[in-house]
Amino acid sequence: MSKRRHHLDHAGSDWSLNSLQQDPMQIYRAKRDSMHRSVASKYDILGFISSGTYGRVYKARCLQDGHLLYAIKKFKPDKEGDVVTYTGLRERLNLILFKLNREIHHENIVALKEVILEDKSIYMVFEYAEHDFLQLIHHHSQTSRTLISSPVLKSLVYQLINGLIYLHSCHILHRDLKPANILITSEGVVKIGDLGLARLIYEPLQPLFAGDKVVVTIWYRAPELLMGAKHYTKAVDCWAVGCVIAELLSLRPIFKGEEAKLDSKKNVPFQRDQLIKIFEVMGTPDEKDWPGVVDLPEYHNMTRIDHFSNCLASWTKSRMKDAYDPLLYDLLRQFFIYDPETRLTAKDALQHKWFHTDILPSRNAFEHAPTKEIPTPRNITQDDSASSISKPLLTASHQPAGGAVGGGRIAGGHMMSNTTGIQQHSKPGSSASFANMSMSGGHYAQGGGGAARKRTKLG
Ligand SMILES: Nc1ncnc2c1ncn2[C@@H]1O[C@H](COP(=O)(O)OP(=O)(O)OP(=O)(O)O)[C@@H](O)[C@H]1O
Ligand SMILES: [Mg+2]
Repeated sequence: MSKRRHHLDHAGSDWSLNSLQQDPMQIYRAKRDSMHRSVASKYDILGFISSGTYGRVYKARCLQDGHLLYAIKKFKPDKEGDVVTYTGLRERLNLILFKLNREIHHENIVALKEVILEDKSIYMVFEYAEHDFLQLIHHHSQTSRTLISSPVLKSLVYQLINGLIYLHSCHILHRDLKPANILITSEGVVKIGDLGLARLIYEPLQPLFAGDKVVVTIWYRAPELLMGAKHYTKAVDCWAVGCVIAELLSLRPIFKGEEAKLDSKKNVPFQRDQLIKIFEVMGTPDEKDWPGVVDLPEYHNMTRIDHFSNCLASWTKSRMKDAYDPLLYDLLRQFFIYDPETRLTAKDALQHKWFHTDILPSRNAFEHAPTKEIPTPRNITQDDSASSISKPLLTASHQPAGGAVGGGRIAGGHMMSNTTGIQQHSKPGSSASFANMSMSGGHYAQGGGGAARKRTKLG
């Protein structure tokens, strides 16, 4: 005690430092208290981006780390009758923190800065990304009315696969790859988001259906799951990548099936329409191209569907027209192999010739893009729940949100005022940061002229 007092009297902050090093309870309390610091004290909530299945996403600026931009995802504690206790959330949160903060660091994966527990909600703070694939697709189909040019397409796909290789090498399955979950920074870097987070939080052990809602978007769902296979595998993510590539090149979902709902007994239904959409392009599978298909639970239902032949080549030609590239067709074909055992893996995909011929993929996917190809920044709106997170701060002047990060096109000036009351759900996007430059594939063309990359300080 006297030793402590001595330090307090003579060494000021050194004392507390030494004491903290010695006292695990104090370390614990300090950590707990910092976790409990409110969102509003650390972040200026600039506005609402959009809501997803499990919560709402806000754009925010950190008041502490040089005013970098972040996306804060607020998870509600309860979801439509499912009782999810705060304690349960806390336990699962530990798992998420462990998995995402400790294990996952890659340039093509959205970085999680921190998680804050407040008012029985979970706030996950992610690095901000100005765009996402869905927004880009909308931009091309509705605004520029052009196909995505091949250098941009190749760079986006390369980076997506590069991120997926990393996840799969960590034995993490994404399980919900779709355009809205694949972000792009203002510096043209792809960031895979939502790494099965919702399932970790809400239904870690449940199947695709929970309550009467489908958890995973059906259009990107692999045929083996539609045929009743019970387990996710890496091949499921690779099928989804094929769907995403096809959507990037045609600007609409390739297999846009109508989802069958649960019946009154909550039996998981046969997704007939979704399978038909797949068969119409890929042909009806048989034992020859999919060994074991006859043993899958839904096989008997499948045999009642008309027979189709494969027409992926003509599908690709008709969508790409003059830009048709047989190598890209071949890549797509391999991602759409029915047999999950022989479907192209993420790792093998990056060795595909398409990535190594003509223009090489670049780290800034927009590097060779004409200006009209670059989507406008994400719109954000003001809403009541944004002000409930950060009441005192919303009165602060809403200066352009951008300047702090990256020097690129930032969302400043695109916020809509309170008076408009319009909510945007069109998935536009944000600015970015680069956790590290190590691209495991290593085939980036080091194009010059790119703006200096900024790094976020991740907590
Ligand atoms: N890190 C981020 N930076 C900027 N915008 C983001 C970020 N993460 C998500 N968003 C955007 O917020 C919106 C809502 O995302 P969210 O993940 O909640 O829903 P979703 O992807 O549409 O559907 P789902 O809930 O099935 O994932 C999307 O437009 C998404 O692109
Ligand atoms: Mg999402």
